[in-house]
Amino acid sequence: MACPQQSDELVFFVNGRKVIERQADPEELLLYYLRKKLRLSGTKYGCGVGGCGACTVMISTYDPVAKQIHHHPANSCLLPICSLHGAAVTTVEGVGSIKTRIHPIQERLAKCHGSQCGFCTPGMVMSIYALLRNHAVPSMEQIISALDGNLCRCTGYRPIIDSYTSFAREATCCKLRGTGQCCLDQEECVCSSSTGAQIHSGLCNPEEFPPMDPTQEFIFPPELMRMAQEQQRTSLIFHGKRTTWISPTNLKELLELKAKYPKAPLVVGNTSVGLKNNCHGAYHPIILHPVRIPEMHVVSSTNDGLVIGAACCLAQLRDILMEAVSKLPEEKTKIYQALLQHLKTLAGEQIRSMASLGGHIVSRGSSWDLNPILSVGKSVLNLASEDGERQILLNDQFLAGCEHADIMPKEVIVSVLIPYSMKDDFISAFRQAERQKNAFSIVNSGMRVLFSPGTDTIVDLSILYGGIGSTTLSARKSCEKLIGRQWNDQMLNKACRLVLEEIVLPPSALGGKVEYRRTLLVSFLFRFYLEVLHGLYQMYPFRYAELSQEKMSALGILESGVPQGVQIYQDVDPGQSPQDPVGRPIMHQSGIKHATGEAVYIDDIRPVDGELSLAVVTSTKAHAKIISIDASEALQVPGVVDVVTARDVPGENGKDEQAYAEDKVICVGQIICAVVAESLTQAKCGAEKVKIVYEDLEPILTIEDAIKHNSYITEERNIEKGDIEKGFKSADEIIEGELHMGGQEHFYLETNSVLVIPRTEDREMDVYVSTQHATDVQELVASALNLQSNKIMCHVKRVGGAFGGKITKPSLFAVIAAVAANKTGRPVRFALERNMDMLITGGRHPFFGKYKVGFMNDGRIIAADFQCYINGGCTKDESELVIEYIILKVDNAYNIPNLRVRGHACKTNLPSNTAFRGFGFPQAGLFVETCIVAVATQTGLPHEKVREINMYKGVNLTSFKEEFNAENLWKCWEECLDKSDYYNRKAMVEEFNTKNYWKKKGIAIIPMKFSVGFNATYFHQAGALVHIYIDGSVLVTHGGIELGQGINTKMLQIASRELKIPLSYIHFCETSTTTVPNGKYTAGSVGTEINARAVQDACQILWKRLEPIRRDNPNGKWEDWIHEAHEQSISLSATGYFKGYVTNMNWDTKKGHAFPYFLFGVACSEVEIDCLTGAHKNIRTDIVMDACFSINPAIDIGQIEGAFIQGVGLYTLEEIYFSPEGEQLTLGPDTYKIPAICDIPKQFCVYLLPNSCNSIAIYSSKGMGEAGFFLGSSVFFAIRDAVAAARKERGLPLDFTLNSPLTVERIRMACDDVFTEMIPKDKPGLYKPWAININ
Ligand SMILES: Cc1cc2nc3c(=O)[nH]c(=O)nc-3n(C[C@H](O)[C@H](O)[C@H](O)COP(=O)(O)OP(=O)(O)OC[C@H]3O[C@@H](n4cnc5c(N)ncnc54)[C@H](O)[C@@H]3O)c2cc1C
Ligand code: FES
Ligand code: FES
Repeated sequence: MACPQQSDELVFFVNGRKVIERQADPEELLLYYLRKKLRLSGTKYGCGVGGCGACTVMISTYDPVAKQIHHHPANSCLLPICSLHGAAVTTVEGVGSIKTRIHPIQERLAKCHGSQCGFCTPGMVMSIYALLRNHAVPSMEQIISALDGNLCRCTGYRPIIDSYTSFAREATCCKLRGTGQCCLDQEECVCSSSTGAQIHSGLCNPEEFPPMDPTQEFIFPPELMRMAQEQQRTSLIFHGKRTTWISPTNLKELLELKAKYPKAPLVVGNTSVGLKNNCHGAYHPIILHPVRIPEMHVVSSTNDGLVIGAACCLAQLRDILMEAVSKLPEEKTKIYQALLQHLKTLAGEQIRSMASLGGHIVSRGSSWDLNPILSVGKSVLNLASEDGERQILLNDQFLAGCEHADIMPKEVIVSVLIPYSMKDDFISAFRQAERQKNAFSIVNSGMRVLFSPGTDTIVDLSILYGGIGSTTLSARKSCEKLIGRQWNDQMLNKACRLVLEEIVLPPSALGGKVEYRRTLLVSFLFRFYLEVLHGLYQMYPFRYAELSQEKMSALGILESGVPQGVQIYQDVDPGQSPQDPVGRPIMHQSGIKHATGEAVYIDDIRPVDGELSLAVVTSTKAHAKIISIDASEALQVPGVVDVVTARDVPGENGKDEQAYAEDKVICVGQIICAVVAESLTQAKCGAEKVKIVYEDLEPILTIEDAIKHNSYITEERNIEKGDIEKGFKSADEIIEGELHMGGQEHFYLETNSVLVIPRTEDREMDVYVSTQHATDVQELVASALNLQSNKIMCHVKRVGGAFGGKITKPSLFAVIAAVAANKTGRPVRFALERNMDMLITGGRHPFFGKYKVGFMNDGRIIAADFQCYINGGCTKDESELVIEYIILKVDNAYNIPNLRVRGHACKTNLPSNTAFRGFGFPQAGLFVETCIVAVATQTGLPHEKVREINMYKGVNLTSFKEEFNAENLWKCWEECLDKSDYYNRKAMVEEFNTKNYWKKKGIAIIPMKFSVGFNATYFHQAGALVHIYIDGSVLVTHGGIELGQGINTKMLQIASRELKIPLSYIHFCETSTTTVPNGKYTAGSVGTEINARAVQDACQILWKRLEPIRRDNPNGKWEDWIHEAHEQSISLSATGYFKGYVTNMNWDTKKGHAFPYFLFGVACSEVEIDCLTGAHKNIRTDIVMDACFSINPAIDIGQIEGAFIQGVGLYTLEEIYFSPEGEQLTLGPDTYKIPAICDIPKQFCVYLLPNSCNSIAIYSSKGMGEAGFFLGSSVFFAIRDAVAAARKERGLPLDFTLNSPLTVERIRMACDDVFTEMIPKDKPGLYKPWAININ
């Protein structure tokens, strides 16, 4: 078939408007097309690899044969625009907008406080929108599953689920409000059992929700229906710069094309091909798009099984199989049930709706989940080529890519026969991933046994494993040897030995986790063995024995279910004016804009005239001299304007950290130079062409190495209290141990972004940047350009998540861009791609601690000696402060009379680690709690008793002699014991554990003393500027930055109270160095309250100025007063200032008033673990937090829940890997797992302690930004409790240490058993591991 040179017109609709693209480029993806060409910036870039859901849109198509419209969610970052011919795309802008009409989905999400930074919000809206277009009244399961593929780093998901509960078929009830009432009773005010105070539950009022209005939805464009009918017979061709896209309409045409272009991929979902293109820069000259071929969409049932067209997507496959399972006899559907098990957890709904069955089978990823099951189920591939049709088995040899069993290049899979199972067939599917959902399997498996009818004699056996080698592997030889054997324990033992011999995983295997993966091979086998035994018993109860209770506990996987939550807070005083919003759960000021996609982030700012894009070249060496930089080839790339290096910096090249590397690189990922070009693609292409020659130097990567080489960022910091030697002498016992803890990626959803616009006069420059520290950006850019700060205007409207990661780093990115703008004289945009952001920036400090603890037999800790190390990376950044905070905070809630703490920040050749929510306390807290657990284990006392014995009581001094009162610590403790029903549940956990050998539950209650703020007054200063305009409207500005924490919402609440006007009168525009100078960074939990004091100050000044006017006209309206004030020449603008809380720390005397105040909290968590796989389920968490008087309970509870879930991520999920050469290997959501919706506790309750006050902060509030984070460790210790129960039952030592994060791997390997003993162990030092331990 000839391939015409003329491109067809690509026609599709976006939000009801027709788009005609005459030069469609097959390499162009919808996300970038929407954002850059159509200027629809509501759809966000979060990762570019289909893993975060920020880019979700809805695709609607018309099926002219079935005369049906189909809607499905899709990740626009993987969707080629050429695949959209004839489709209707709906983006968040098309769902609803402030300018037209807000959609109930958007409104409910905003009103239920489901957005914080708002960056994930459009994606959330779109996922639910697509669901509701298909199912007007979905079940809660469908809602949760629709959100599987959407990540949120801020909220902890609970409010997002809450907001969509209102669309569900069934209303859900919390059942455990702790007050004896049900949350579905419309009565919202209840009394606290302990204090009698009026408390409130629920943060929004579902009665206010507008109903769904179907007339609001776009109708599917009739023109597209006509097109679908008319264009059935016309193939489409789109020629791009490098790629031609051909979409044939019939099979014959496709087969001709495939014969002509045998190497051309058949792109359906593009989730495999696209991923390779995006990540590895691969491209294909010809792409065939076979979705319009009817044979490839066939769904039919035959005598042998179901025939499913290869172009059917996985979501469709799921629906077809679900229907089959509901209709067919059970014995025929065992393969279908096994497939369904994986189809529920595989990827997110967007990927499931895009990815095709054929694509899944042919791309044969080693860890793709369906192939092992399809293979053991003896599925048949119906192939076609120009030469005719044939069938091949989808067997192990096909999966291994053996030539004789493979499809030929000119062949295509038309459909797949998935057979029915037989009566004596047993089929099981297994997978274990780092996260329960939306994560590739670490290992998966499909297993099948066929018995001779009515017996347990093996006639046929197949076992396949994914995730072990480069392809799916079969234990074919082992299976052959087992044929004819009975299904009994001896067979199992033999099978395990054979499989371990046959399925070999080398010690340096890609992906690491070698011993764990080997263990899963046999753990899965054991579970299969038991599932089959159980099945035999169910089929022939008189012939086979029932499984023992112990064995039964190995069956079944842990599923997270539908989460429910309760939030309880103290109501405002009944006498408070209804207009006064302070203390009420006011919606986030930008909530609606987040939900409609109208909130503007840096990369959403429209291009300015002459704008250039910037891409950086980063070091590939951890430590090396730069011998030369050759940019000549890069400069030849069309569109490249310039290459910028350190030599182009007119002034200072950074402060502590160089912006552009000069003569040496000190970590992989360090920026060496920048390429600026007319487009980002050209800039990236140029960056790839820059050649750097290095001379290697020896790197230091780990804490161990740093200690060996005495490589430290600062001198030792230490503190000593009491007499430690005497303490140890008087102790009954002394124990020693260690804790290793990994770091953490910030994974803010909005990557670092900056737009620099030089002004034409006086070398002024506007810098729009996503930062927590505008002043630092201003200073660094000014000094880099040799300018005074007054020439640099830094603007921040909002930041799409920061968590400490945008304090120091954005200034360097701003310098990179500003120097390029200065050199070229043109505006420069620098928005980092996710992998670059993760490569270049550091995160939370990895930690290593050694302890020696002396205690009495009654559990009292008498003395402790702690030695703490953090891996600071290659520059100082915040490492000195972090180690100081670790030392000051390591006591947590415990009064250790004789204590010595020494700390070092290690200097290594890793990207420089920086501030992260909690700032050292999450590491310090886990460390001291580990000591508590060690003491409890040694004394045999209950953990909560050891905690109680050692907790601070009454008025106390910290180790640095700061006085505080522990009364609220105890109130929280008792309230949490009560609300969580701790003792009863502990007894139930113990009972469960006696009955379940292979599953264990654990429960832990953890107290917290969190020190808020900074150890120097200077950090707490803040400024504000408040203008009242003649019409009475008010503009509030302050030095703090909106990171999603709701700072602006609270500022407006404060201004409203102080000026006694409704919120609607007050506006916040942006944070800018031009309005409020010298702002400190927004961090340390105090950003809101210190700026609030400045706003309050400004408002009070204004209120006072109005006093004479108010006195003269006491019944006048606000507008009258303002008008009059203006007439009387009274200034209606005021600056406000807060000098800061007085704090200090003297490291010589080891004394200080280091923190303005303390915040207490307690969390109790319960989990269940699967000892065979290491999976765990968060069952329930109760948090009691001493929030004092919350200015906005919705925001504060949101902070607590969000921080808690981030903590759960740190302690149980998030793992960063570095290669032995120091290169970070985890660079996106595909390899680095932050908590998803499946990770939140099934019951999640937050209580704000009533009747407590804080005389220090504004309106007696407390800063909630960080404290909840550490409480995530309650999940860590609950898991530890469960592991201890397993070890106890197996007779293993109980004084074991568990390092953090407690991943599936660590949990499984700690539950030592006959299977872990079976696996071959490798001797360290005899092989090069895939990754190293840097902590
Ligand atoms: C974020 C993300 C998460 C994922 N998570 C999981 C997971 O948890 N578990 C899992 O198992 N998988 C997972 N996947 C992988 C996913 O299942 C596969 O990428 C998908 O099934 C491939 O289908 P596709 O239609 O997108 O393939 P495409 O990318 O369109 O094509 C892939 C290949 O298949 C070939 N091909 C397609 N159809 C045919 C045909 N009919 N005949 C011959 N050749 C054909 C093409 O030539 C091409 O080489 C994930 C993918 C992503 C992006
Ligand atoms: S940007 Fe598309 S899924 Fe993350
Ligand atoms: S609100 Fe979800 S990522 Fe910030």
